[in-house]
Amino acid sequence: MSKLPCAELHLHIEGTLEPELIFELAARNGIELPYADLDELRARYEFTDLQSFLDLYYANMDVLRTEADFADMTRAYLARAAAAGVRHVELMVDPQAHLARGVALETCIGGVASVLEISEAEYGISTALIAAFLRDRPEEEASGVLAELLAMKAPIIGIGLDSAELGNPPENFVPLYEQARAAGLKLVAHAGEEGPSHYIEQALDLLLVDRIDHGIRCMDDPELVARLERDQIPLTICPLSNVRLQAVDSLESHPLPLLLEQGLNVSVNSDDPAYFGGYVDDNFAVLRETFDLNPAQLARLAENSITASFASDERKAELL
Ligand code: HPA
Ligand code: ZN
Repeated sequence: MSKLPCAELHLHIEGTLEPELIFELAARNGIELPYADLDELRARYEFTDLQSFLDLYYANMDVLRTEADFADMTRAYLARAAAAGVRHVELMVDPQAHLARGVALETCIGGVASVLEISEAEYGISTALIAAFLRDRPEEEASGVLAELLAMKAPIIGIGLDSAELGNPPENFVPLYEQARAAGLKLVAHAGEEGPSHYIEQALDLLLVDRIDHGIRCMDDPELVARLERDQIPLTICPLSNVRLQAVDSLESHPLPLLLEQGLNVSVNSDDPAYFGGYVDDNFAVLRETFDLNPAQLARLAENSITASFASDERKAELL
């Protein structure tokens, strides 16, 4: 029932690194972890806000050293996503987070892409890769990394903007998005997760994004909600993430049902499933239970994920 065929549009591949794989990769790479065992690591998964999660997310990435590490992480995600009913995924990777640790672009992009190439045949999941840029680092660095990705013909279809939102508004990244647009890339950005609703407007008006990741703070501005409905701007919503990072007070107070009722193009996504207590099917399950969503509402959410994707018209037709 919860395994509706759907697309996942908001997924950070590094956020799929499960504790077991962290220990496995640490052992393989001769890295000593600051946790004695799985339980000690799992005890860290209590977050109070976005930054408290990002601290652990970036620390755990240290185990990703080789192409094989990135490939194994990607394979594990795709196997789990297939079981969740995901038939198309547009996943983000954070190249700057790896460059900062001395891991080359070829290693992270090559490792992930090597598995995406066989994903449709092996898992029945079509894929697209989005390079996400860290908004808490300088725009010039992001633009330089994008230029490198373009020069090496990295198999990316778009760019995104993630990491610590408050105090790092979309308006700081206009040159990055101009470069990406000129290169024919799709444009998405996290906005209105913890940040104010006018960051969503900036992403639309200054970065000219095709989709907004999260966007839940639009609730503070009814005119913006009306605009998102009128222009059918997709919002990639991540309920369990919002609860675990305390971006909402509780699942019961999550705005997704209201946004759905008002006709916005909202979809259900897992964001960083290894950290937030579940994959797409788990997100659908808690929504269904909490809000008593009926089959038509669930079908609409799944359909929205497909129409909001960057898949080809042929692929969309297959999935709808
Ligand atoms: N928000 C912002 N940046 C991120 C996230 C998120 O949920 N996950 C990974 N980077
Ligand atoms: Zn995210």
